[in-house]
Amino acid sequence: MATPVVLVTGALTGIGRAVAVAYARESANLVVSGRHEDAGVELADELGKLGAQAEFVQADVRRDKDMSQLIDRTVERFGQLDIAVNNAGTAGTPGPVTDITDESYAAVFDTNVLGTLLSMKHEFRAMLPQGGGSIVNVSSTYGVMGFPDATLYVGSKHAVVGITKAAALEGAAHGIRVNAIAPGFTQTALYENFTGGDDTRDAVNSVLPMHRPGKPEEVAAAVLYMGSDKASYLTGQTIVLDGGLTAGWPLFPVG
Ligand SMILES: NC(=O)c1ccc[n+]([C@@H]2O[C@H](COP(=O)([O-])OP(=O)(O)OC[C@H]3O[C@@H](n4cnc5c(N)ncnc54)[C@H](OP(=O)(O)O)[C@@H]3O)[C@@H](O)[C@H]2O)c1
Repeated sequence: MATPVVLVTGALTGIGRAVAVAYARESANLVVSGRHEDAGVELADELGKLGAQAEFVQADVRRDKDMSQLIDRTVERFGQLDIAVNNAGTAGTPGPVTDITDESYAAVFDTNVLGTLLSMKHEFRAMLPQGGGSIVNVSSTYGVMGFPDATLYVGSKHAVVGITKAAALEGAAHGIRVNAIAPGFTQTALYENFTGGDDTRDAVNSVLPMHRPGKPEEVAAAVLYMGSDKASYLTGQTIVLDGGLTAGWPLFPVG
C-alpha cells in the first residue's frame, strides 16, 4: 500500500494516540479525530513533526452528522480512506447491574456501539466506491469474557465483536476487511480510572500472567498489522492482546 490514508477516532489520548503516533512514524496520511479542538490541533502538529501529513477533525462518534463530515473531510483532503481505526470508547461508571439506568446505558452504548456503527457506516460509504479498505474496531477482553460490576461495558464490547463479524461479511466481497482488537488491561487514563487506586491495580497486576498491564504502543503494533495488507486474508476476527489474561483461569496464582 503506497502511503495509506488512515483515520483514527478517539485519537487524542491513550491507545488512539499511540496508534496515531505509530502511523505517523510510518509517514501515513493521517486524520485524527476527537472532541477537543485545541488538543487535536496540537496532536496533528506533533504527528506532522514525526513525518505524517496530519489533520485534526473534531467529531463526536455518537453523532451521525459528525461522522459523515469526518469521512467527507478525510476523502476531500487525501482523496480516499484506506484504514480506519475505530478506537473512541468509554468505560462508563462501573457498578452493579441493579444500578443501570437508561442514562447509564446510553452513556456507554452510544459511544461504544452506536459510535462504532456510525463510524463503519461512513467508512463503508467511502471504501465501497474505491473498491476496498481496512477497518479495525477496538473491543476489549471485556468483549470476550464477563467481569462483575461492568455489565454495560461488557455488553457494549461484546457488541463490538458481533458487529465486526457482520460488517466483515458485508465488506468481504468488496475488498473491505473488518476486524477488532481486544486489548486486555492497558496503561491509559481509562485503565487508571477503571481500576481505581493503587491497591486495586496491584491486585489486578497480581493475576495478570505478565504481572503488568499492556502498553498502548503494544496495542498499536497489532493494530498496524491488522490494518495493513500483511493481514490481507484476515477479516471478521477479534485478536485478543492481553498478555495471556484470557488464556487460563486467573484463580490460580501466576508466576
Ligand atoms: N485501557 C484499557 O485497559 C483498555 C482495554 C481494552 C479496551 N480499551 C478500549 O480502548 C479504547 C481507547 O481507550 P483508552 O484506554 O485509550 O482510554 P482513553 O485514553 O480514555 O481513550 C478513549 C478516547 O475516546 C475518546 N472518546 C470518548 N467518547 C467519545 C465520543 N463520544 N466521541 C469521540 N471520542 C470519544 C476520549 O476522548 P474524550 O476526552 O472526548 O472523552 C478518549 O480520547 C476504548 O475503546 C476502550 O474501551 C481500553
